[in-house]
Amino acid sequence: NLDVSTLVDSDGGLIDRSIYTDEGLYKQEMRRIFARSWLFLAHTSQFKKPGDFFTTFMGEDPIIVTMDKKKSIRAYLNSCRHRGVRVCRADAGATKMFTCTYHGWSFDLEGALQSVPNEQAYPEDFDKKDWGLIEVPNVAIYKGLIFANWDPKAEPLEDALGDMRYYMDAMLDRDPEGTEVIGGVMKWVLEGNWKLAAEQFATDWYHVNMSHASALMVLSPTGKGPKADIAATPGRQFVSPKGHGAGFPTHPKSRFDAKAVHEHYDYAALRERLGDAAVEGPMTTGHATVFPSFSYLPVNGSIRVWHPKGPDKMEVWAWILVDKSMPDEVKDAQRLYNLRTFGPSGIFEADDGENWSEVQAISHGFVTNNVPLNFQMGIGSEREDGTYPGQTSELYSDAAGRGFYRHWATLMNEPAWHENKNK
Ligand code: FES
Repeated sequence: NLDVSTLVDSDGGLIDRSIYTDEGLYKQEMRRIFARSWLFLAHTSQFKKPGDFFTTFMGEDPIIVTMDKKKSIRAYLNSCRHRGVRVCRADAGATKMFTCTYHGWSFDLEGALQSVPNEQAYPEDFDKKDWGLIEVPNVAIYKGLIFANWDPKAEPLEDALGDMRYYMDAMLDRDPEGTEVIGGVMKWVLEGNWKLAAEQFATDWYHVNMSHASALMVLSPTGKGPKADIAATPGRQFVSPKGHGAGFPTHPKSRFDAKAVHEHYDYAALRERLGDAAVEGPMTTGHATVFPSFSYLPVNGSIRVWHPKGPDKMEVWAWILVDKSMPDEVKDAQRLYNLRTFGPSGIFEADDGENWSEVQAISHGFVTNNVPLNFQMGIGSEREDGTYPGQTSELYSDAAGRGFYRHWATLMNEPAWHENKNK
C-alpha cells in the first residue's frame, strides 16, 4: 500500500509525475479507484431485448453487460469459472447463453451455470449453483447512462454524482424522450496514462486556444480563430468533492455545434426546461469528467471512457449521443460533426492525443520524473457563485484538476471495501 500523500499536493497545486508512470501505483489504482468507483459501462439504447449484450471493462476487468429475461440490465465478470477464459469474446450482439469456447460451460442471461459437459465426472458435491458468473453487485442508470460499482456498499449513483447531475442534465435532459447512441463504438489506443485525459476533460480549458488554434481557425466564421485575450472569455468551472469536474463558457455565442443541430433546437423551450443558466453555460461548448474515467462533450454528444491499459497506455472508447426525437438528418449532422471534431482522427481529438502522448513519452526520465507539475491556476478561487450548483471557479483555472487529484489521493490512501472485512 503506497502512501500518495507526498505525491499530490492538491491545496498547493503540485502533482508528482510518478502518478502517471509508477507500476505499483497503477496496481493500487485498480484496487482502490476502479474496484470501488461508479464506472460507465454503456448506454441503455444499446439494449433492446433480453439477450442483447455488450462487452467492456471496469478498470482492466473484462465485463459483459446484458439484458436479462426480465429486461433488467446486469453486468458480469467476463471470465469463465472453470479455467478463466472470457465466456463472451464478441464486442456486442444478442444471445440466449454465454458458452465458453474452451470446454463448453454455458451460462444463462442471469449468470447461472446451466450446463457442464461431462458433468457426471465431477465430485458428488459439485453444484452448478456455486459456479455462476461473478456478478457486479451494483448497476444503476442515470438518464440513459449505465454505471456499475463493485463495492457492495457503494453509495447510490445519484449521491455519488451529487451536483454533477445538474451539469450532466444539460446534455442528457434536453429532450423529454431522452437520448440514444448512434453508430458503433469508436475505439483507439493512446500512449498516455488514463488520468491525463480524464483530468484534462475535467479542468483544462486553458489548452483550447493554443493546442486547438488551427482547428479553431477552420471553424471560425472569420477564419481568424481564437481571440488572444483568452482570460476575457466568461465561463465557470465546476469542482466536485467527489472528483468530478466540468468547464464551460457562459455566453450563448460560445456555441460551436453543427449548424443543423443548432437550428433544430428550440432555445426558448430549452430555457423553460433546463433554466437560462444551463442553456447559457454547461449546454455550450463545455467539457466534463465524471470521476474517474467517464468524460463527455455536450456540444457534439461525444461520451467516452478512458480505459486504463497499464500506466503508459489507455484505450479510448467513444460513443455519439443524440436526442431521441431529433430528425434523422439532424442526428446524422451530429454524427458527422462529432467524427470531424472528436472522432479518432478528428481535428481536435488529434491535438489532445498528441499532448498526452508527449507528456507520457518523457515522464520516465529520472530527473523529469522528479520535477512536479503545476496545477496552481485559480488557486483559492473556488466558491459558491449563486448561479451554478456546488463550488465553481473561473473557466481558466485548475480547480477541478486539483479536485480530481484530491479525491484520487483520498481513495488511494483509504483501504477499499475488499480490504476491510468489517466495513
Ligand atoms: Fe470455460 Fe473451461 S475455461 S469451460
